[in-house]
This record gives sequence, structure tokens and C-alpha cells, in this order.
Amino acid sequence: MRVKISFLWLLSLALVFALASCEGDAGDIGPAGPAGPTGPAGPAGPAGGDLAQNCIDCHGNNQLITAKLFQWEHSTHATGGHYERNATSCAICHTSQGFLERAATGAQQTAAAIENPLPQNCYTCHKIHTTYTADDWASTQPNPVTFWVGGETKDLGKANICISCHQARVPSPALPDASTGGSITVTNKRYGPHHGAQGMMLTGAGAYRVGTGYENSSHTTLVTNGCVTCHMATAQGTASGGHTFNVADESGRINTAGCVACHSDAAALNTKINDTQAEIADLLQQLETKLIEKGILNPNDLPYAAASSSNPLVLTEHQAGALWNYQYVREDQSMGIHNYKLAKKLLQNSLAALN
Ligand code: HEC
Ligand code: HEC
Ligand code: HEC
Ligand code: HEC
Ligand code: HEC
Ligand code: HEC
Repeated sequence: MRVKISFLWLLSLALVFALASCEGDAGDIGPAGPAGPTGPAGPAGPAGGDLAQNCIDCHGNNQLITAKLFQWEHSTHATGGHYERNATSCAICHTSQGFLERAATGAQQTAAAIENPLPQNCYTCHKIHTTYTADDWASTQPNPVTFWVGGETKDLGKANICISCHQARVPSPALPDASTGGSITVTNKRYGPHHGAQGMMLTGAGAYRVGTGYENSSHTTLVTNGCVTCHMATAQGTASGGHTFNVADESGRINTAGCVACHSDAAALNTKINDTQAEIADLLQQLETKLIEKGILNPNDLPYAAASSSNPLVLTEHQAGALWNYQYVREDQSMGIHNYKLAKKLLQNSLAALN
């Protein structure tokens, strides 16, 4: 069959040549036709003129990227390992791709699980390779954040990117209202704000406000770039500050580079830190003991609640609120540094409400 087709081709080619050779001489070339319409505009070139120079501004021999990369490699964002939480409801904070998808869609979950998940990296927070100029250091999420729990909107400037992730997820069942009441049935031992409560604590949002006397500490309003001011101050090697995002090194020594503008006396600051953390840790311990006494926390499985689907826990509004506040202050982890006045009052009032 193949042989036959090739043969037919050869035959028709031979015919074409034979016919061509029978044609007469070509005529004169006609006059030029009218000019065609203007074509569509081409794509915009890179801003700032010289593309190569733009690349060099970031990738040149100033070692800018390498320096930040080196710090980042020692951050929990890079080393924590929880980026494999790539399911749709986790990937929005735990993976780089999921976060950027959320920033674009505004949804509280991704459309699908994220394949090849990456942890929070340069591309998560900066608009790397968008215009290919130094403008790409701009934040991918510079806007004020409306917290999912409580719905308050807060503006922490450069730290708006941080509090987009360092906030609680919507609890199920919803937390009852402190003023209207109503009991809830908890079937999950992890009931409480998910690990990153810091954004809510610093800004005084998302807590269960039972009783009166609440106010926020000076940090809430005075530290205008929030997290960034304290956690990304001048780097101490790769131990703290800068792109390690740590305010304390592994041995717990606090990097005060971001504090000194307001706390000029180093010794006084140290005392203040110790006193604040000791007081809040003590109150948190008291609340924990009380929650165990009431059968709300499981003493054999701390810090979890004594609840499961086979062993549901029915709580009054204040009991649920006290459990929430316990987890809220505990998960914040700063032991009062972020918002001392709020943490203290929440713990005191929760204790009182349980009595
Ligand atoms: C705003 C600064 C900035 C500019 C401008 C910039 N880059 Fe990058 N580029 C980065 C960062 C940050 C990374 C990621 C570094 C890392 O993760 O190791 C990167 C990574 C890269 C990589 C490694 C592969 C990748 O995509 O991660 C290449 C190649 C690259 N850039 C080429 C270029 C070229 C070519 C230009 C100019 C057309 C350019 N870059 C402009 C910041 C920049
Ligand atoms: C895309 C979501 C996201 C953004 C944006 C983000 N974080 Fe995180 N952050 C996380 C997650 C998730 C972890 C835990 C990582 C792990 O364990 O794998 C974390 C961990 C941390 C830790 C270490 C916590 C610990 O227990 O040791 C600090 C400190 C921190 N982030 C500060 C910041 C600051 C400051 C910013 C803003 C500049 C920021 N984060 C922006 C999601 C985010
Ligand atoms: C709103 C953003 C957000 C979402 C959504 C989210 N996380 Fe997290 N998660 C965080 C942050 C921030 C941290 C780190 C907080 C810290 O260390 O203070 C964290 C930490 C964790 C940790 C480490 C806890 C530890 O003690 O070290 C685990 C495990 C985790 N998340 C699991 C999940 C799972 C599973 C999901 C989905 C069901 C999920 N997260 C959804 C923000 C989020
Ligand atoms: C969790 C978010 C986050 C991640 C991840 C992150 N950055 Fe940043 N970066 C910031 C914030 C916030 C600032 C502003 C800090 C300030 O003003 O003190 C910043 C500032 C910078 C600057 C200074 C920009 C300027 O305008 O002069 C550079 C350079 C930079 N980052 C590079 C990087 C590189 C390289 C990586 C990856 C290794 C990276 N960043 C990862 C949040 C992040
Ligand atoms: C006023 C300065 C300040 C601000 C603002 C601040 N932090 Fe902290 N943060 C601290 C200090 C100090 C600690 C306690 C460090 C210690 O005792 O180890 C801490 C603790 C933490 C921890 C526990 C892990 C650790 O490093 O000990 C996380 C996570 C954290 N902060 C995240 C944030 C986030 C996210 C924001 C923004 C919402 C924020 N912080 C705002 C000073 C600050
Ligand atoms: C923008 C200014 C500002 C910055 C930055 C700042 N603080 Fe404060 N801080 C204050 C003010 C104002 C008070 C209330 C008066 C006082 O106690 O000195 C305060 C109070 C405190 C207290 C006592 C508890 C409280 O809230 O009343 C502690 C502890 C503290 N700061 C620690 C820190 C640490 C640690 C840092 C840096 C990691 C820091 N602060 C950064 C302004 C600041």
C-alpha cells in the first residue's frame, strides 16, 4: 500500500513538471497595491527601559537576594514543614500557591488541593517577576484584613500580609455571643482558634469578651507596622530579625532592635518582658487548672478539650468562651507581649465566669 502511494506521488510530480514546462513566458509585473491597515499595537515593553539593568538591580552582585534567602532559610516558614497541609482549606495559608490563589479569588479555600506545594517564600509575599523591575518587591497583600472570626477589619500596614495568615479559622460550631448566650456541643478536641492567633491578639479582635473592663495595650495602636516592626527588625545573623521572622533566637534571647525606638532603657525593658510574661503565664495556668476541674480540658491530653465525636461536650456560652480564650492566649504564644492588657483581662474574666 505504502509503495503504491509513493509511486502515485512521483507520477503526479512528474505530470506537474511536464505541464509547467509547456507554459509560456511570464507577463510584466503589475503596479503596487494600496498600503494595508495599521496593525494592532505590540505588547508593552518592560518598564524602566533597560531590561537587563532591571534584572541586575535585583540579581546583581550586591548579594541582596542571597542575604534575604539565607535568613529565610532559617525561618520557620522555610523549615516548619507544615506546607504539606495542601488540602483546599489548609493550603490558603500553608502553601505559597494556595495563598496567592486566595489573594486573587478572596475565597476561604482553594479550588483543588495544591500539587507540588511550597512553603511561604519570596514569591508568596513579594510580586516577584511581575513587571521585572524593583517594584516587584511590593507586597502581594498590602490591604487591610477583615478577620474571619468576628468580622473586624484591621490595618497593620506592612504586616497586613502577616495577619492574612496569622488569624483564626471559622470555628464549628460558631462561638456563642457573650451577651445573648446559648449552649454549644463540641465534638472536636481541637476546638479553639487555629494556631496563628497573633493577628487577632495584637489588634484586640476575635476574643470572647465576657464581663467588662477591656482595653488594648499601647502596642495595638502605636506599633503601626505591627509584626514587621518587632519580628523583622535588624537581623542578628540568621538567629532573629530580618527574614528569619523570629523576634527571639533559639535560646529565647529577644532581639530588641525593633523595640528600642520606644523602649530606650534596655534593662527596664528586660524586666518588663519578664514580669509581663510571668504574670500572663501564671493566669493562663490558673485558667487551665479551672478548665480541667470543670471537665472541659482533658488532663491526659493537654492542651486539648475533653471532647470527641463519640464523647461530645455540651458547654454553656461562658464555658465555651473560657475554652476559646484559653486557646486564644496560649496559641498567641507571646505571653502578653503582643497585647498585655487584653490577655490579662480575658484570663481574669474567664476565670471569674467559670466560678
Ligand atoms: C524584584 C527583584 C527581581 C527582579 C527585577 C528580577 N528578579 Fe529574578 N528573582 C528574584 C527573586 C527574589 C527570585 C527567587 C530567588 C530564589 O528563590 O532563589 C528570582 C529568581 C530568578 C531565577 C531563578 C528561577 C526562578 O524563577 O525562581 C531566574 C532565572 C531569574 N530570577 C531571572 C531573572 C531575569 C532574567 C530578570 C530580568 C528580566 C529578573 N530575574 C528580574 C527577584 C527578581
Ligand atoms: C501565607 C501565610 C503566611 C504569611 C503571609 C505569613 N505567615 Fe508566618 N507562618 C505561617 C505558617 C503556616 C507558619 C508555620 C509554618 C510551619 O510550621 O510550617 C508560620 C510561622 C511563623 C512564625 C514561627 C512561629 C513559631 O511557632 O515558631 C513566625 C514568627 C511568623 N510566621 C511570623 C510571620 C510574620 C512576621 C509574617 C509577615 C511578615 C508572616 N509570618 C507571614 C503562615 C504565614
Ligand atoms: C488562616 C490561615 C491558616 C489556615 C487556613 C490553616 N492554618 Fe495551620 N497554621 C497557620 C499558622 C499561622 C500556623 C503557625 C502558627 C504559630 O506557630 O504560631 C499554623 C500551624 C499549623 C500546624 C503546626 C502546629 C504546631 O503546633 O506546630 C499544623 C499541624 C497546622 N497548622 C495544620 C493545619 C491544617 C490541617 C489546616 C487545614 C485543616 C490548617 N492548618 C489551616 C495558619 C493556618
Ligand atoms: C512572609 C512574607 C515574606 C517572605 C516569605 C519574604 N519577604 Fe521579603 N519582605 C517582607 C516584608 C514584610 C518586607 C518589608 C520589611 C520592612 O520594611 O522592614 C520585606 C522586605 C524585603 C526586601 C526589601 C525590599 C525593599 O523594598 O527595599 C527585600 C530585598 C526582600 N524582602 C527580599 C526577599 C527575598 C529574596 C525573599 C525570599 C528569600 C523574601 N523577601 C521573602 C515579607 C516577606
Ligand atoms: C511589640 C513587638 C511585637 C509585635 C508588634 C509582634 N510581636 Fe510577636 N512576639 C514578640 C515577642 C517579644 C514575642 C515573645 C518571644 C519569646 O518570648 O520567645 C513574640 C512571640 C511571637 C510568636 C511565638 C513564637 C516566638 O517567636 O516566640 C509568634 C508566632 C509571633 N510572635 C508572631 C507575631 C505576629 C504574626 C505578629 C503580628 C500580628 C506579631 N508577632 C507582632 C514581639 C512582637
Ligand atoms: C511604637 C512603640 C513601641 C514599640 C516598637 C515597642 N513597644 Fe513595648 N510598649 C510601648 C508602650 C508605649 C508601652 C506602654 C508603656 C510602658 O509600659 O512602657 C509598652 C509596653 C510594653 C510592655 C509592658 C506590657 C504592656 O503592654 O503594657 C512590654 C513587655 C513591652 N512593651 C515589650 C516590648 C518589646 C519586647 C518590644 C520589641 C520587640 C516592644 N515592646 C516594642 C511602645 C512600644
